[in-house]
Parts: sequence; structure tokens; C-alpha cells
Amino acid sequence: MNTNNSKSATVIGLGMMGVTLARLLLQGGYKVTVWNRTPEKAAELVKDGAILAPDAATAIGASPVVVICVYDYAAANEILRNTVTEAALKDRVIIQLTTGHPQEARDAEQWANTIGARYIDGGIQAAPSQMGRPDTPILVSGNETAYAQAEPVLRIFGGNISYLGEQVAAASAMDLATLSSIYGTMLGFFHGVRIMESEHVPVDTFGNIVGGIMPTFGDFIRHEANVINAGDYSITESPMRISVEAVERISQHAYSAGINTAFPDYANPLFKKAKAAGLMEQELAALVKVLR
Ligand SMILES: NC(=O)c1ccc[n+]([C@@H]2O[C@H](COP(=O)([O-])OP(=O)(O)OC[C@H]3O[C@@H](n4cnc5c(N)ncnc54)[C@H](OP(=O)(O)O)[C@@H]3O)[C@@H](O)[C@H]2O)c1
Repeated sequence: MNTNNSKSATVIGLGMMGVTLARLLLQGGYKVTVWNRTPEKAAELVKDGAILAPDAATAIGASPVVVICVYDYAAANEILRNTVTEAALKDRVIIQLTTGHPQEARDAEQWANTIGARYIDGGIQAAPSQMGRPDTPILVSGNETAYAQAEPVLRIFGGNISYLGEQVAAASAMDLATLSSIYGTMLGFFHGVRIMESEHVPVDTFGNIVGGIMPTFGDFIRHEANVINAGDYSITESPMRISVEAVERISQHAYSAGINTAFPDYANPLFKKAKAAGLMEQELAALVKVLR
């Protein structure tokens, strides 16, 4: 087993994502050792040069860098947290690409420290078919030395790496916050679909219009985040009052058209609270004060 080869990596977990990661490493000229609970999933990779280890500890022993990408942290812990595997992990760099929440990342880092391993936590913001491109987004956080050792491997997985610093939970927090933005937008989008249907306007036209405003909407989101960061809510782009009125109109429409009111019932009270709190003449970003 060659543990000195810097172009050597282990991948634990060969689900849809893990198989893709292992394949990219092979294509990148790495010596790749793999392990999966169901070994049959390694068959194609082995044909292409990967080494299938009989157990996780052997796979870990084969490389200085260990990528783990399984269903959830419970699965990762089941695989990694036993004395044999923990002994194999000593002095290894663990790249955790299993999706989890911030506390799980903190716990994992603490555990890694106790067994003499280095740990970084990552979040993949792409589907398997989108991996390996220069713009593939990967979030990562944790010990800076471990990140430096992990970076060449991460670059194989995606060129758009955001290293968020040593606070290990930052990547999973960012992943959660990003998903929150996306689902918030999507819920609004689906409510918009119901508005279109109730007013007999084609939904595909709506999709095109919304898709078209997304780039400028992105600039707007950046601006609102900068306002919150600076803590200066004087009006620079969009006064709260415009949104208070807009959301009230969305609510009135839903009730009068008889469509589902769940989305406006969630949004409207928040904007009403902003009004009651005297935030009408502040930038829209001040809504965060209602949520604090
Ligand atoms: N797929 C995506 O689009 C995507 C995108 C971004 C992030 N991710 C993240 O990547 C991770 C893996 O996703 P995936 O799509 O590859 O999932 P998947 O195809 O469902 O594969 C799950 C993997 O976890 C293993 N596993 C589950 N429970 C286990 C246990 N108790 N013990 C040992 N192994 C266990 C499976 O082993 P078996 O093969 O033996 O079942 C398999 O290797 C997830 O955390 C996911 O959130 C996925």
C-alpha cells in the first residue's frame, strides 16, 4: 500500500455521488482505493483501475486523504467510529462530503481530533452529472492545514471552491442557508404558478419571465446581504413599504381568487410585523430584524 503518493485518495461510499467522485479521481490520475457497504457498486470503477478494499479500515490505510460521501452522518459514524477504523484514520485527512447540519460537523471535528485525524467538512452544491467542472460549487470549512492538504482532491471535484474558514460548521451552515433561499424562492414560484393558473395566463411564459429576472435578482440579493452586514438600513434600493404593500396584494389576490393561501399566510404577517415595528422607511433588508 502506498501512503506516500500524493496522488492517492480513498473514497468511502459509492452511491451516486461517491461513484462520481471516485471516477473523477481516476480520471485525474489518482490511485483510488474505494470501499462501499455494498461492494458490487464498485464493479465498474474496479474495471477502470480503482482498488476495492475488503473493509473501510483497509481502504483508509491506503491513502493520505480519505473522502467520505454516504447518505448521512449516522451512516458515516457507523462506518468510521470503531477502534479498527479509528486507528487507520490516525494522521489521515478526512474530507467529509456527506451532507449534514452544523452540529454534526462540530461533533465530527471533535471526534477526529481525539483520534489524531485532520478533518474538513464540505457541502456539494451540484448534482453528480455536474461534478468536475470549473464552475462546480463546493463549500468547505475546517482546519486550514487540512484544507491545504485536501485542496488538490477537492479541485478534481469542482473548480468553484468556497473555503469558508476554520469554523468547521461554516460549510454546512452555508449549505442550509443556501437551501433556505432556494426553497423560499421556489415556494414563492409555486404560489406564482397558482396565480397564473387562476388568471389563465400560461405558466411557461411565467417561467421565462422569472428566469429572465434572476440575474438582476441575484444582484439585489447581494445588495441586501451587504446592507445587513453593514447594519445600515437606510433606503438604497428598495423601501420596506413597497414589499409590505406587494405582499398584502399577493395575500388579497389569493383569498379573492380562492387559491391556496399558505404562502401569503406565511409571508404577510412577517411584513405586517415590519410595518408595526416602524420599519417602513428602511431598506427591505430590515425584515431580518423581525426574524431576529
Ligand atoms: N446525489 C446528489 O445529487 C447530491 C448532491 C449534493 C450532495 N449530495 C450528498 O452526497 C451524499 C451521498 O449522496 P448520494 O446521492 O451518493 O446517495 P445514495 O446514492 O443514496 O448513496 C448513499 C450511500 O450511503 C451508503 N450508506 C447508507 N447508509 C449506510 C450505512 N448505514 N452504512 C454504510 N453505508 C451506508 C450507501 O451504501 P450502499 O450502496 O451499501 O447502500 C451509499 O454508498 C449525501 O449526503 C447527499 O446529501 C448528493
